[in-house]
Amino acid sequence: MPIFDVESDHELFIGHREQLDTELVGIGVGGKEIGDPPGIESRHAGTLVAVPARPDSIGWEMRRTPDRLLASGHVLSLSHVASGKVREIYEIDPDHLLFVATDRISAYDVILPQLIPDKGRVLTGLSLHFFDFLDTPNHLVSTDLSSVDELTDQERTELEGRAMIVRRAEVVPVECVVRGYLYGSSWREYRDGGGPTTEHLPEGLRLADKLDEPIFTPATKAATGHDENITESQTREILGDDLYEELRRRSIDIYTRATEYAAAKGVILADTKFEFGFAGDELLLIDEVLTPDSSRYWPVDEWEPGNEVPSFDKQYVREWLEKQPWDKTPPAPDLPDEIVQGTRSRYVEAYEKITGRSFDEYLEGRR
Ligand SMILES: Nc1ncnc2c1ncn2[C@@H]1O[C@H](COP(=O)(O)OP(=O)(O)OP(=O)(O)O)[C@@H](O)[C@H]1O
Ligand SMILES: [Mg+2]
Repeated sequence: MPIFDVESDHELFIGHREQLDTELVGIGVGGKEIGDPPGIESRHAGTLVAVPARPDSIGWEMRRTPDRLLASGHVLSLSHVASGKVREIYEIDPDHLLFVATDRISAYDVILPQLIPDKGRVLTGLSLHFFDFLDTPNHLVSTDLSSVDELTDQERTELEGRAMIVRRAEVVPVECVVRGYLYGSSWREYRDGGGPTTEHLPEGLRLADKLDEPIFTPATKAATGHDENITESQTREILGDDLYEELRRRSIDIYTRATEYAAAKGVILADTKFEFGFAGDELLLIDEVLTPDSSRYWPVDEWEPGNEVPSFDKQYVREWLEKQPWDKTPPAPDLPDEIVQGTRSRYVEAYEKITGRSFDEYLEGRR
């Protein structure tokens, strides 16, 4: 495996950003592209992933990734706008983006080394389902990629079921979290004497208790990449009172309707996160919506206040990770095939349980 020397004041970047952990690397300042590294032809850029050879090293191991599109960002001929932990975003024209959910999975904010086959399709299928159900102004334009001339037939096939054409929005810099149950970071704040999310809660609640009313508990994206809960007054300061009220009203309204919907399917929607953005003057629901990655879904018969509740989806892989000797910093351990398949089944199960439709039918409908 070739090792390439990179000058110590440069940071090498090839492939998707999140595979490179700047904290671990210990050199460079993160996210900056410096062009092709020595010895690599430009046509390989984007088909290779760079991983640091050692934390204290300025050399890199290069390896070809198994699946160009899913593992790496800059491969479509469209111009690449951004990589999230899960998504790749491309520009179609100044007002429209191609929003692609890959099969990447993250746990504890670390991207795991294996892809979960079809996970991106589950997330996109559920988002489409809820954009339709909610009927609230949102960023979805179409899933028909035939109008995107830049794509090859092979790329269209790879993108089927996982890509949406969306209206480009100016993202509101606050994540709109709504909670109907006391769990996760809110529970930890509550248990430890209170924090931003607990300012409107009564005393004496237990873990996983249902709240009298759903609460709006916004978060910001902190520089560390971990979300940070913020108080009502901090949020009002960022957004202004009018936008704050509007986002709270819309978020709680959507959560309430989705909760009733989920209950009819035997599922509790414990909490969820929405993102909003402006396209011109219009305030749109953007991003993914009510997916297992953005929401905590519980099987109704597993909920017992006072106890931890297993959720669909990531719980399974988290439990496996908990048993590994791993300190939750990158790189994460390789997932055995059995865990990859088990995780896939749980995502597919979540799709089927929540939509009441078969996932095979979703895939068929996209071919
Ligand atoms: N219509 C839109 N216009 C512009 N940006 C959007 C739109 N919808 C979603 N986004 C942004 O696209 C990104 C989605 O990528 P992804 O879900 O992979 O990110 P993430 O890992 O959840 O978070 P991060 O963005 O912090 O990496 C988010 O940053 C979201 O704010
Ligand atoms: Mg996201």
